[in-house]
Amino acid sequence: MKHLMSPLDFSVEELDHILDLANDIENHPEKYAHACAGKKLATLFYEPSTRTRLSFEAAMLNLGGSVLGFSSADSSSAAKGESVSDTIRVISCYADICAMRHPKEGAPMVAASKSSIPVINAGDGGHQHPTQTLTDLLTIRSLKGRLNNLTIGLCGDLKFGRTVHSLIHALVRYPDIRFVLISPEELRIPDYIKENVLDKDHISYKEVERMEDALPNLDLLYMTRVQKERFFNEEDYVRMKDFYILDKKKMELAPSDMLVLHPLPRVNEISVEVDEDPRAVYFKQAQFGVYVRMALILTLLEIEC
Ligand code: NCD
Repeated sequence: MKHLMSPLDFSVEELDHILDLANDIENHPEKYAHACAGKKLATLFYEPSTRTRLSFEAAMLNLGGSVLGFSSADSSSAAKGESVSDTIRVISCYADICAMRHPKEGAPMVAASKSSIPVINAGDGGHQHPTQTLTDLLTIRSLKGRLNNLTIGLCGDLKFGRTVHSLIHALVRYPDIRFVLISPEELRIPDYIKENVLDKDHISYKEVERMEDALPNLDLLYMTRVQKERFFNEEDYVRMKDFYILDKKKMELAPSDMLVLHPLPRVNEISVEVDEDPRAVYFKQAQFGVYVRMALILTLLEIEC
């Protein structure tokens, strides 16, 4: 039985297969409409979510399966003090596969160790978010035509942003990837990622503070929200929250084929006027998230169509 904790749980070949399957699902949805008939997905969300939880649920419903679960810790027995380990043992009796989001780094891993069904990490604290990465890879591959030879600007909260952490882990396995890490000093990428991933794999990267300096040379700009819920005090958040605002004027500095991605939710970091720019693909990205989660569910349940 396979779980998904980090994008590295799949080899590049396995990832390619999931992305191919997602493209086939996009083009032939009817072929998959009953693939999960009789199967149940549990969504165990101890932290707020819109896209991840609902796209998982939409994915399972599109496959003809059913869904059950909770959308906040308060409405589950966690509020009574139940451990993740006990909860997952019980959920294993009710569902065939589960997606878990938790504020504590490593909680889905603890669940996986006690589970008799596949567990998918749907975001654990400031650590990893592998299904957002699958979504991002599918978006990039579908709209840019490749996952190699890319200069990628990662902008915003690189310290706490788990989507960025997972995306870096996944992308360094493709040839000729270059990163421009755009953040304020206080929100730089953690040292453990620099040392264990970027430096170790001799990946080309630079750290800059001004977005304007990076924009002219990017193939992709991946914007992120400042992660309010991971700050220790409100004051620091308020100081950081509007550090970057991508607007029409800044978009003029960017190449005509640069794509703008964002895992969403957006707060102020992308001005709504940018939404009409054909290079802004963050709402398409959310749609790709459904296809790729359908492909992931089929893969983990070992269902072939
Ligand atoms: C992201 C997350 O939860 O980490 N959201 C998402 O799943 N699309 C990004 C964020 O919350 O900023």
